[in-house]
This record gives sequence, structure tokens and C-alpha cells, in this order.
Amino acid sequence: MSFSIERYKEESKKLDTTGIDWRAVTASPLSKGDLFCLHYMMDIENHVPLYLSHLLVTRACMDPILTAFLACWNYEELWHGENLGKLLNLYGIEFDAQDRIANVRANLGFQNSVSLLSTMVGSWLLKDFSAVYLTIGAINELSTLTGYAALIRKSAHPVLKDLLNRIIKDERRHYAFYFNSAKEWLAGNEKAQRVDRWMLNRFWVPVGQGVKTQEQVDALALYLFDDEQGEEDLLTLDEKIGKLPGLAGIELMSKALYTARERRRHNPEWAWRLIDNEEWAVAPPKKSPIGELTTRRTHGEAALSVLEGS
Ligand SMILES: [Fe+2]
Ligand SMILES: [Fe+2]
Repeated sequence: MSFSIERYKEESKKLDTTGIDWRAVTASPLSKGDLFCLHYMMDIENHVPLYLSHLLVTRACMDPILTAFLACWNYEELWHGENLGKLLNLYGIEFDAQDRIANVRANLGFQNSVSLLSTMVGSWLLKDFSAVYLTIGAINELSTLTGYAALIRKSAHPVLKDLLNRIIKDERRHYAFYFNSAKEWLAGNEKAQRVDRWMLNRFWVPVGQGVKTQEQVDALALYLFDDEQGEEDLLTLDEKIGKLPGLAGIELMSKALYTARERRRHNPEWAWRLIDNEEWAVAPPKKSPIGELTTRRTHGEAALSVLEGS
């Protein structure tokens, strides 16, 4: 698996959706589980700019190759979120994408600032921060594309399949960048390998956790991977990450599935109730109205201020 940053810069572009048969979205059904996963995935794709804001204050961003990658990557991820939202809207699920994104972010509240500051400080204290960040990047991209492939298999929805297969191609390139960069950093650097393994075993969480609750993460994991094929996919994923120097035998995604199963064993309603009850709406934050954070006002307020101003 090779990766050329020069080629990536030249070829990076908005997701090509030419020829997707959007009119056929309603012709095939999506299950509650499919819809739950799609909302989760859309929210996490749309969360990339905030994730990026955490990275841009770290020592990893002294590297111009990394920042060039991030500039293109962020743009590509934008279109993943946009198109997943489009598919859901066309399927008949009504929400305003901008409001939803703003609500997801606002609901993080103070936690977001704490996380940003601790990432920044951690990166400057830890010389091998980049090794950890790059490895996490590789796991996130690989688990994202593995999740999309699982959703294609579960849903058997032709339009969703077409869209996700196009997104998967982008995710593969992202994975190749992170994996190769992590490998470069870790090769022959035993200290970085030890730090990386230690950090992953203690602090790594599946993609989306933090923005989503443990129960939401488990619902996604159990819906997509709690069968023979799914479990095998996650074991293969861990095996691929285990090929990075110093990470042989590491168990991350498979462990996340097993702990999700464990939580459901203690509480049989765990996770599935979110899917059964169609709990994918995002409530606005209780404390700060969105307008306070974004300067956006509701249409009613905006109309009133125009009248007042005239
Ligand atoms: Fe993506
Ligand atoms: Fe990606």
C-alpha cells in the first residue's frame, strides 16, 4: 500500500456523485438499524472540522506534509457528511443539516475546550505524539471504511451501496496516508513504539466516541459487527493495525465489540433500545441557544429584526 502526498494533492477533490440514482432512494427500505448508523456516521463525518481544530494546535502540525494532507482530507470529509445527509433527507427524514451540526457541537459544551487544551499540552509534552495521532488516524479511517462496508452488507440498499462505495475509495486513501506515516514514524524507534502501544491500550476509543455516548457506540458496533462476518472483519482490522512496528497482536476494535456484548449481557435492552426507539434526533443544547454560539438566529427572529430595522 503506497501513498504519494504530491499525487494526493493533485487528485484530491469533492466526492463525485455523478450518476447516483438519487430518485431511487425511496424505492428500497432502510431498517431502523441502517438509519441509526447513517445518522451516527453523518454526525461523525460532519464533526471532522472540530477534530481538525484539536490537531492544528499540536506539535504534529509542524510537519508541512501532514498539514497539506489535512487541508485536502478535511474538504473530502465535508462531502461525505453532506451526501449522507442528502440521502437521509431524500429518504424522507426531515432535519436541517446546519442546525443538526451546530447542535452536535454545542452539546459538547465545555468538554470540547478541555479536550482541545489537553491534546495541545499532551502533544508538546510527548515527543512521539505524532506516532500516536497517526496510528489513531489509521485506525479511524480503517474502521470507518469497514463500517461502511458492513452497512452496505446489512442494508442491501442499492443507492446507499453506490454512495458508500464512492466514499470508501476516499477513506482508503486516508487510511493509506495515516498507516504509511505512522509506519515511518515507528520504524526503528522503539521508544515511540512503546509509547504508542501504551497510549492506545489506555486511551483509544472507537471513532465517534466522545461525540456519541458509550451506548450509541455500542449500538453501532452491535448492529454492524455482531455476527460472524462482522467479528471477522474487526479481527482482520486489528491484524492490519498490528502490522505497524511495535503493535503486533494489539486488540482494539475486536475488544470494543466484546465489551459492547458484555454490556448488553448485563442489560439485554442495552444499545438496541436506541435503535428500536429511533433515537437519532439531536436535541438543541439546554444552556446556550445556537444563536449565541453561531450568530445564527431562527427565521422568526431574523424576520423580526429586519422589520425592526426598516
Ligand atoms: Fe469520511
Ligand atoms: Fe476519512
